Amino acid sequence: MSLLISIAYLIASVLVIVGIKLMNKTKDARRGNFLSAVGMLIAIAATLVQVQLVTYTEIAVCMAIGTAIGLYYAYKVEMTQIPEMVALFNGFGGLASVFVGLSDYFLRTQTLNEEMGAVIAVSIILSILIGGVTFTGSMVAFLKLNGKITGSPITFSGQHLLNLLLLLAFIGASILVYLTPADPLFVYVITGVALLLGILTVIPIGGADMPVVISLLNSYSGMAACATGFILNNNVLIVAGSLVGASGIILTQIMCKAMNRSLTNVLLGGFGQTNAATAADGPAIVIKEVGVEETAMLFDSASSVIVVPGYGMAVAQAQHVIRELMEQCEKRNIQFRFAIHPVAGRMPGHMNVLLAEANVPYDKLVEMEQINDDFANTDLVFVVGANDVVNPAARTNPASPIFGMPILNADKAKTVIVSKRSMGKGYAGIENELFGYPNCLMLFGDAKQTITKVVGEMKEM
Ligand code: TAP
Repeated sequence: MSLLISIAYLIASVLVIVGIKLMNKTKDARRGNFLSAVGMLIAIAATLVQVQLVTYTEIAVCMAIGTAIGLYYAYKVEMTQIPEMVALFNGFGGLASVFVGLSDYFLRTQTLNEEMGAVIAVSIILSILIGGVTFTGSMVAFLKLNGKITGSPITFSGQHLLNLLLLLAFIGASILVYLTPADPLFVYVITGVALLLGILTVIPIGGADMPVVISLLNSYSGMAACATGFILNNNVLIVAGSLVGASGIILTQIMCKAMNRSLTNVLLGGFGQTNAATAADGPAIVIKEVGVEETAMLFDSASSVIVVPGYGMAVAQAQHVIRELMEQCEKRNIQFRFAIHPVAGRMPGHMNVLLAEANVPYDKLVEMEQINDDFANTDLVFVVGANDVVNPAARTNPASPIFGMPILNADKAKTVIVSKRSMGKGYAGIENELFGYPNCLMLFGDAKQTITKVVGEMKEM
């Protein structure tokens, strides 16, 4: 039986790894997700056969409750709320690791009166530390994202010193957990300190930086799961946990690189504060407005169009009407493509997912490096709810907080039309000089509503 279980775990691990590999490409992502889910199902089934501590009825009831809650939220959640949902998922993953660490500690030291070897002790302590920080850190991230607590950095003097002292207290108490395993006091201390550290390390970070923090916490939740894998001697948890840990860190780095910021800069906060000062500077931008009819005419007369989607497209849910716009253009033999910036929107792959949902073919979506040289030869660039990712200040203004961030060269096109509701700023909270460029026209209004009207005009032409 134990051989069969090992084989099942091996198959499950391979399925999870292949699944993650497939998630690399939008067109294979669903298949990858499905394969990984099958892998996890095999792992759960093998674990149920192996572990006989709880009854199948208890497991079935818990699974039914968990599935019902998961399904309810998966259907209810808006696309723009996905980062919040991921924060909750990570948080509960972390909490589960804390529970596994605590229950194993109590089982060994209080019920079975066993010796706790160094490897097990370190695994339990790491599960509690990483799991605890992930749980409370993710809850703070969730509350900041949905506005239940302020998105501004919460700081007080001596904050870093307090964190350092807490970390030292954690290390001291961890040594005592190992040396005096029969006394549960120190395990309570390390649990409390870990939970407190999660809160204290996330509150000083601005709400806008939460997607990066969530990706980092996602990585932590993987590492916590990996530590619980050592406690439970479960290979699937070790493999899946390390994969999540590593991919979360890689994703965090990609996001930081695309924003041209270091992880330290994100974690130590202060981004919003610099912006406020910079945003107040600079001359007022003089803009030119364009109407729906004129926009439709500009599309009609173009031979090449690039759409730059951004966060506002997600807010307006304009992706379906943009696909209709694409169909109108293609009827006229106009070359029509989308330029995808790696951090457009508020989560990795945000634009890809929305456009795939609207059945835009994958080959129409072109990554920044591939399309950036083509803007100069393009007749019309249509910027839909994007702002920071086309802000030329990233190239030209060393004082700008986004200076150095790679941007889409939308400003190089013959004509640029920007669809947004007002002169409102984007995530970075700064002015966009592109809006005042001679080749730039502003099409004000909610993206879905205005583009619907543009498509209507084009249909009548
Ligand atoms: P942003 O710079 O955030 O700009 C979005 C624009 O959408 C706003 O200026 C807003 O202007 C407009 N908008 C909002 N609702 C709209 C609606 N209903 N219709 C039309 N327009 C609407 O977006 P971006 O260019 O996609 O840049 C993303 C930013 O997020 C970057 O700074 C990036 O670093 C940051 N970020 C991204 C990620 C990931 S992983 N994607 C993670 C963390 C941070 P109005 O209010 O005037 O309409």
